[in-house]
Amino acid sequence: MEKSENFQEGIHADDYGAEFTAVRLERTALDTWYRETESLDGRWRYAADPYDTCLRQKWFEENYFDSEGRALPVDFDFDAWEAADVPSCWNLQTEKLFWYEGPMVFTRRFTYVNHGEDRVFIQFGAANYQAAVFVNKKFMGTHFGGSTPFCVEVTDVLERDNRIVVVVNNTRRKTNVPCENTDWFNYGGIYRGVEIIRLPKAFIRNFRLWLEPGTDFKKIGASVEIDGAWETTPPPSEAPLHGRGMGTAVVTVPELNLKMEIAVADGKGEAFADAAPGLWSCENPRLYDAEVSFGGDTLRDRVGFREMKAEGSAIYLNGKKIFLKGVCAHEDSTENGKAVTDAEIRRTFALAKEMNCNFMRLAHYPHTERAARIADEMGLLLWEEIPVYWAIAFGSAETYRDAENQLAELVARDFNRASVAIWSIGNENADTDARLKFMTNLARKAKALDHTRPVSAACLVDGAALAINDRLCAEIDIVGINEYYGWYEPDFSKLAKIFANSAPGKPVIISEFGADAKPGARGTVDDLFTEDKQLDVYRKQIAAFKAELSKPDSFLCGASPWILFDFRCPRRANFFQGYYNLKGLLSAEKEYKKPAFFVMQKFYEEV
Ligand code: GCU
Repeated sequence: MEKSENFQEGIHADDYGAEFTAVRLERTALDTWYRETESLDGRWRYAADPYDTCLRQKWFEENYFDSEGRALPVDFDFDAWEAADVPSCWNLQTEKLFWYEGPMVFTRRFTYVNHGEDRVFIQFGAANYQAAVFVNKKFMGTHFGGSTPFCVEVTDVLERDNRIVVVVNNTRRKTNVPCENTDWFNYGGIYRGVEIIRLPKAFIRNFRLWLEPGTDFKKIGASVEIDGAWETTPPPSEAPLHGRGMGTAVVTVPELNLKMEIAVADGKGEAFADAAPGLWSCENPRLYDAEVSFGGDTLRDRVGFREMKAEGSAIYLNGKKIFLKGVCAHEDSTENGKAVTDAEIRRTFALAKEMNCNFMRLAHYPHTERAARIADEMGLLLWEEIPVYWAIAFGSAETYRDAENQLAELVARDFNRASVAIWSIGNENADTDARLKFMTNLARKAKALDHTRPVSAACLVDGAALAINDRLCAEIDIVGINEYYGWYEPDFSKLAKIFANSAPGKPVIISEFGADAKPGARGTVDDLFTEDKQLDVYRKQIAAFKAELSKPDSFLCGASPWILFDFRCPRRANFFQGYYNLKGLLSAEKEYKKPAFFVMQKFYEEV
């Protein structure tokens, strides 16, 4: 940009952000679940920074004095700011921040004492939407994407006394993923945990363990990604392999009496072994303790072995045809927003199981890793999704980079979760050429990242032809269909026509249907926003599903009504809604069950 003699960086530079987006944190997260880490959760100082002055004027450099030592009139005061809990959503910390969208500066001090480790990282579970991280005045990188983990290596910048500054910005943008228009509340914050991870020079960055599909449930695969040069002297037998990330990783699954050696070259390796594990299922969510070691590093996980397959017009779990009896849920609670607790996750999953579900669609973005781990234990199959939602900038390379990175980060994080059955690459996108190219690349990327799971997306029907003919169907394994006959589209007769007119040649899940109902509001079946109207829609939807399922060649393989509980939504401002989407089968507090909950429960008991 043009600079004059009196140019002042801190107020005139309109490209100030460039240096902070030049270093992007992509696919950085480490497997830490069973590692001993040190939490940085707790009280952080914070201040809203709507004009992004922290980045513009580099508050993180803490220039309190000029070069002559004279005090400068700085506009921040890190240690005098208000404090808030991390993790949390700032919208629910104080009334004045409920609707705030924009940059928020978080900071805290922490001491660090070396315990003999060679390398140190700081990992974030998630921050919405972008997070620029500074440690001891040094810029470490910026993460884009509001629902996946990221980390920075701080080995060379840590002192005994340290300061971390994180500028989180949840401004909705056309080029973000999701874009600026969604049907859920745009919570902001560092809303999942922050931890310090101590590691040896060479360590296991990522560990995968799976039941190899198509092997009659008798072959297990394992792979590792090693980070760093392995400088410990390898045993003579491995000397030839010595070097960057060279050597042998050893995987053990004691209950299977299994030990696998993985030859590691250039930081990665994979191996297979014959084994016949007890298969994970919703009725019997069998989990095995597994351990992998490499040099001086050891990583553990608890893994279920199962096979999820889409073939013809059916879905198979462990070789048996399965109907996915599901329900959708946002990551949302009235008390905590997106920073849901384990207890809230367990309650949500228990309610789904009470409704006779074996499946949940975690919409529309990656929920916390804890959700998949709890579903592993409770026996629920999950649809996990990246927020390629509605009308994102399908023509933008930057947007595609962001979407693909969020997909890669989600797959890296949850690959070992038996409950995660389906990767979804998007929701309700218009079937344009640009979108087809974008989503085809994403679908192929998902398969390249994970050969063990089917790929899906929640698509829209062709309302004119009354058929399922979204061109993306050719690229995905399971077709999700969102349809609101009886609600947004009053003419209910069209649903049966769609079933009759469609032959996708793949399994179809009705990934959304439903209607709003204010809890306790009663009326006739024609009174919008009453429980009677919602009940009538559910009854008619279920009748249409039953008619379809009575056909011998039905492609209907599941349903996940929208949605288990009411949730905050700034687009919903009528008399009944009060900025809540009321399509829940329960109230937002997850206490009150609307009558439609019970017809869904009965359908799933019978189907
Ligand atoms: C859409 C969308 C949801 C939205 C729902 C609704 O299908 O996928 O995110 O909340 O409809 O209109 O309530």
